[in-house]
Amino acid sequence: MRHVDELIARMTLDEKIGQLNMITANFVITGPTIAGDSTEGIRAGLIGNMLNLWGAEAAHAVQKLAVEESRLGIPLLLGFDTVHGQRTIFPIGPAEAGIFDEQIWESTARQAAIEAAEDGLNMVFAPMLDIARDPRWGRLAEGPGEDTYVAQRIGSAKVRGFQGSDLSAAESVVATVKHFCAYGAPTAGREYASVDISERTLREVYLPPFEAAVKAGAAAIMPAFNDVAGIPMTAHRYLLRNVLRGELGFEGVLVSDYNAIAELLNHGVAADLAEAAALALKAGVDIDMMANAYSKGLPEALRRGLVSMPEIDASVRRVLSLKERLGLFDDPFRRGRKVSLTVSGDSPSRALARDVARHSIVLLKNDGLLPLTMERRRIALLGPLADARSEMNGPWSAAGQASDPVTILEGLSSALPDCDIICEQGVSLSEEDRSAIPLALEAARSADIVILAVGEGARMSGEAASRSSPGLPGCQQEFVDAVLDLGKPTIVLLSAGRPLLISSIVERASAVMATWWLGTEAGNAIADILVGRFNPSGRLSVTWPRELGQVPIFYAQRPSGRPANTDDHYTSKYLDIDVTPLFPFGYGLSYGNFTVENLRLESGSVPVDGQIIMSVDVVNNGGVPGEETIFLFLRDPVASVARPLLELKRFAKARPAPGERSTVRMTLPVSDLAFPGLDLTCAVEPGEFEVCVGTSADPKQLLRTRFRVTSGGGDQISHS
Ligand code: NOJ
Repeated sequence: MRHVDELIARMTLDEKIGQLNMITANFVITGPTIAGDSTEGIRAGLIGNMLNLWGAEAAHAVQKLAVEESRLGIPLLLGFDTVHGQRTIFPIGPAEAGIFDEQIWESTARQAAIEAAEDGLNMVFAPMLDIARDPRWGRLAEGPGEDTYVAQRIGSAKVRGFQGSDLSAAESVVATVKHFCAYGAPTAGREYASVDISERTLREVYLPPFEAAVKAGAAAIMPAFNDVAGIPMTAHRYLLRNVLRGELGFEGVLVSDYNAIAELLNHGVAADLAEAAALALKAGVDIDMMANAYSKGLPEALRRGLVSMPEIDASVRRVLSLKERLGLFDDPFRRGRKVSLTVSGDSPSRALARDVARHSIVLLKNDGLLPLTMERRRIALLGPLADARSEMNGPWSAAGQASDPVTILEGLSSALPDCDIICEQGVSLSEEDRSAIPLALEAARSADIVILAVGEGARMSGEAASRSSPGLPGCQQEFVDAVLDLGKPTIVLLSAGRPLLISSIVERASAVMATWWLGTEAGNAIADILVGRFNPSGRLSVTWPRELGQVPIFYAQRPSGRPANTDDHYTSKYLDIDVTPLFPFGYGLSYGNFTVENLRLESGSVPVDGQIIMSVDVVNNGGVPGEETIFLFLRDPVASVARPLLELKRFAKARPAPGERSTVRMTLPVSDLAFPGLDLTCAVEPGEFEVCVGTSADPKQLLRTRFRVTSGGGDQISHS
């Protein structure tokens, strides 16, 4: 720290602001602003950080400029959107979330960190922890799904994976957790739109994932683009300073989103860049990504008395301290020393990508057609995603190459070398061109089995990709219907970044699989499942609606005073469709058949400072090895505030051998039952609770038992 203070004492105002400035290298443009040549700015100390540049050579070249040619020789932060992989591309967020395995979540972040560091980077803009409950919002594709507890576990695993145990290590990079906060709940699912939610929901649903990431040591956080009830997050003093830094104890660097400080003018809370810069700085935003609002606005804000030099120094100190933690002052070139990576066919990163991808696939329906047996001879592989290499990378391909992924056709051809596979696109992803449909139908007619690879293009989900009606785009639905009309055994593979509206397909197809976007090894992973080399174990991290009118849809709904009852008109339901989802959270089939039985608690009564110990048996009734995910939900039937019908508290895996049973044991401290009460203070309210255990959030299949929390010494305990 002394070094940092000495540096600050020697810095001019321009050099200080330079440390708060992050400029794109022009490799990738994710916003409306384009940077010019940054060389002179780095030399003059006016650009202290960059994004969108990768590759050891390029990274070292700009780092060299900063270290050797700027007056104070301060190294640069070099950040990049390593959202679901760097060179090796892993499955997108909601797919990977559905693995429900913390080791896997951590391992992909670790591999991405290693590759990012080898690309000369020292910071990634990940993990993305936005809870999403509305499939219209395209960025659902980047995040952890709908559940807060899952997002907490993913948040800590990813921070551990990216940052390692020592941030200064050559293979560690800063994790920038994003987007703080509630970005996933925009009005009508429309990207960048206003968010208006209660403080209770904020505290219960949207803040805990960030709290978990902070506890895991996250060194940076990115405020979201959106406003929350009229206050843009980039200027949200209460949420950034009081809550994030104050209550959650975050001491790291806040990096604005792309151009977000200048966009405070569009939000209508600042009249000019000086006001915008002052609002953001006072809220505690340290780095201005691509708005040039600090460089243009802060000197004027200082003149007008809107900010003070100690406030600027505080941000500069945080940025320089982070550079120190990264070991950049000792050796700015430690990352990127090794020869740059290639993601070759047999690299260990490919093996990891394949394993994670096949764990992510969710089998939604199977009438027994899957797994495919070897004697089937002629397969028609149809649809716009059958041989769509670059699409497999998904929305954030980082430094992954468009030529890297294995296509579905390639995966299937190598898994079934004796089969005759005819591949026809039939229709494009989104155009209304029907001219190739007859040829594809002809192929289907001649085949024993049809596999339809349909869904979205990678750019149809992700940032700025809201869809008003997320069904199959273009004329794909019509094409699928025409194929299904042929009555052939048909498997539908759905690639998408969100739940799709596919009720009729599920009704009619023989088998349906959610294959999301699986990354570099997509085709091999899909083939592994199709031919039964891997028993499907992926589960849904988001609820799938039947119809658009059901969104936002999520399992943790409150009960309502008039719970749905089809026999009673005046209850909470729809007149035209079933109120239940198409597929519940946690849903997913396997080729086996597991049953869950014998739920028991160690004690029916626990004190507020005690713990609940639950056991359940999982039986593998099928003939194949496999894995089942067991969810432990909690229900608080009577409390001062209406509690959700189910709240996920734990998950675990069971892998009983065929014909065997295994016992899953989960422990839950009573303090985990705390929730924001009437006055929003988090506490446990003693009384009766229900433990609900099963393989998804479908209430019909949950085993339930009750226990009582006794007040012990005091009436309530607080939860930190
Ligand atoms: C805008 C996105 O919202 C954010 O997630 C990303 O990190 C930045 N652009 C930088 O690319």
